[in-house]
Amino acid sequence: MSDENKSCSVPSTGEPVAMQSTTPMWIIVTTLILLFIGGVYFDRHSGWFDVKVYSPYSSAENLEAYQPKSSEGAFIARGKKTYEAVCGTCHGPDGLGKPDQAPPLAGSEWVTSKGINRLIHIPLVGIAGPISVAGKDWNMNMAAMGAALPDEDLAAVLSYIRSSWGNKASSIESDDIKKVRATIGVGAQPVTVEALMKLPE
Ligand code: HEC
Repeated sequence: MSDENKSCSVPSTGEPVAMQSTTPMWIIVTTLILLFIGGVYFDRHSGWFDVKVYSPYSSAENLEAYQPKSSEGAFIARGKKTYEAVCGTCHGPDGLGKPDQAPPLAGSEWVTSKGINRLIHIPLVGIAGPISVAGKDWNMNMAAMGAALPDEDLAAVLSYIRSSWGNKASSIESDDIKKVRATIGVGAQPVTVEALMKLPE
């Protein structure tokens, strides 16, 4: 009986026999390395399944950091966009103006004035004739470039130019624009500096 069993489990026929072999070490190591890389990649790029987080942001904090800080920030960003589309062609995206085209807004006393009435008049009716800007004389014409803009947009543009390129003056609200616009008649001619100085600052 025991002899029969022995001949069964150890065949001497030369048939192939299934043998147990251990998984090669390199597969284990490679798998662990790949899992680790995958984990790191997931951590950096997945946003941990937060539906509000999407590429190129990696987390909710990261996404938050790139949003405008406040409604004030969004307002100025809107002003920048409108400025670059409507005013920047002449006054330059850097506010430095262009020779024979437009005076600078950066460092301009007309832009950073304490009172805002005269400044709001300039884009609403245009300005013509001699004007001194930051110690330099100009004598050109600007049409009513801001007249067609909604109050909110013009307020944003003026707030942007008052707080950019080293300018540090207070913001202007759409109500301020509305009030000045109400004092201006339809078809008003571009204002001269002489007439502008007669208006309250
Ligand atoms: C087509 C060119 C042009 C565009 C566009 C333009 N400006 Fe002007 N701007 C001028 C010129 C030229 C003067 C100077 C006029 C003069 O000599 O009397 C001027 C003067 C000014 C001044 C007073 C002087 C100074 O440099 O501070 C302000 C403020 C101003 N512009 C704001 C604006 C704003 C805001 C916009 C957009 C809503 C705008 N401009 C769009 C040409 C332009």
